[in-house]
Amino acid sequence: MKTTTESFGVTKDGAKATLFTFTNDNGMSVSVTDFGANVVKICVPDKNGNIADVALGFDDVKGYETNENYLGALVGRYANRIGGAKFTLNGTTYEVDKTNGNNCLHGGFKPYGAMMHEYELNEDEDSAGVTFSRLSPGMEQGFPGNLDYSVTYTLTNDNEFIIEYFAVSDKDTILNLTNHTYFNLAGEASGSVYDHLVWIDSDSYTPTDAELIPTGVVAPVEGTPLDFRTEKPIGRDIDADHIDLKNAGGFDQNYALKTTPGDATLVATLKDPASGRKMEVYTDLPGIQFYAGNFLDTKNGKGGHDYGRREGVCFESQFFPNSCNIPAFPWKPLKADEEFNSITVYKFISE
Ligand code: GLA
Repeated sequence: MKTTTESFGVTKDGAKATLFTFTNDNGMSVSVTDFGANVVKICVPDKNGNIADVALGFDDVKGYETNENYLGALVGRYANRIGGAKFTLNGTTYEVDKTNGNNCLHGGFKPYGAMMHEYELNEDEDSAGVTFSRLSPGMEQGFPGNLDYSVTYTLTNDNEFIIEYFAVSDKDTILNLTNHTYFNLAGEASGSVYDHLVWIDSDSYTPTDAELIPTGVVAPVEGTPLDFRTEKPIGRDIDADHIDLKNAGGFDQNYALKTTPGDATLVATLKDPASGRKMEVYTDLPGIQFYAGNFLDTKNGKGGHDYGRREGVCFESQFFPNSCNIPAFPWKPLKADEEFNSITVYKFISE
C-alpha cells in the first residue's frame, strides 16, 4: 500500500485543500480530499490491466465549491429529500433549507461536500485510508444538535473501497449520511451508462409524488421496469412507460434492502461488459438510491470534460428519503449521545 499527499488548490475563502491518494498492491487507487470529504478519483484496472478513473469529478478544489450535481460528495446532514423542507422532532417543528423547489435535498444550501474537514491518515499492511471529521454546529442547515461526525475511507488489497460513517449528537437530531459518487466503469467522460448492467437485490421500492417525495408506500418491483433482480442494461427500460420513471426522468428510485445494521451485505452490482470492470455494492443501511444521472449536467470536470445526462450512475446507500416524516419507514431519530455507525463498500473486480 502507498499513500501520497498533495495540494488540491485553495478555496475562495483561502483554505488549502489536500488530496490524499491510496494505491494498493494491484495498482488500484482512490483519491479523496479534506474539502467536503469528496471522493475525487477511483482508478481501476480492466480485464486487460488498463487503468481508468471510474469516478466523475474535478481537477481541483474549485470544482467542489460549486458542485451542483454532488459529484463524489459526502452528503449530510440528511441525504435525499425532506418533503416540505420540514420535520417535527420531540414536538418541535424544524424548517430546513429549501434547496429543491419546496423541499430540502441533500442537506442544505451549504452541503457537507462543501465544508472543510479535519483529517487523520490510517495505514495498515493490507489497507490505507483517512478519517475526515467535523463538528456540525446545532442548527446548521436548520438541524438541531451539535453533531460530531466522521467518515473513514479505506482502500484494501482486495480492491474494496470502504466507507464508514460515525456520528454522535448532544441533542436528539435526524441523520442520513450517504456518498454521491457517480460511476462510469468505462472511465469518466466516456459517454452514457446505458450499456452498463445493473443488479439490485430488492423486491420493493418507495414510489414518490411528482416532486420525488416518497408517498409512504413500499411497492413491489415485480412486473415493473424497476425490477433489477435479474441483471439488465440500464438503457433497456430507463424510458419505459411507468409513472415513477416519468416523475424522475428515468432511474432515480430508493430500493428497500434486506440488510442488518452493522453487517455489510451485497445489495447491488454494476458491470461494464466492454471493459470487464465490475463493482459490487455492500451496505448495512435499509435503502439505496439507484440514480442514473438524469439531471447530470456538469461543465468543466476532470481534464475539462463535461458530464451530461446519464453519463454516470450513483448507488447512494441511505435511510429511505423523507423517513423523518414517514413513521412507517425503517428509521429512527438519532438520540442525544447515541453513537451512529454505518458501513458501505464499493468493491471492484475485473472479469
Ligand atoms: C439524488 C436524487 C436525484 C438528484 C441527485 C442530485 O440522487 O435522488 O433526484 O437530485 O441526487 O442531482
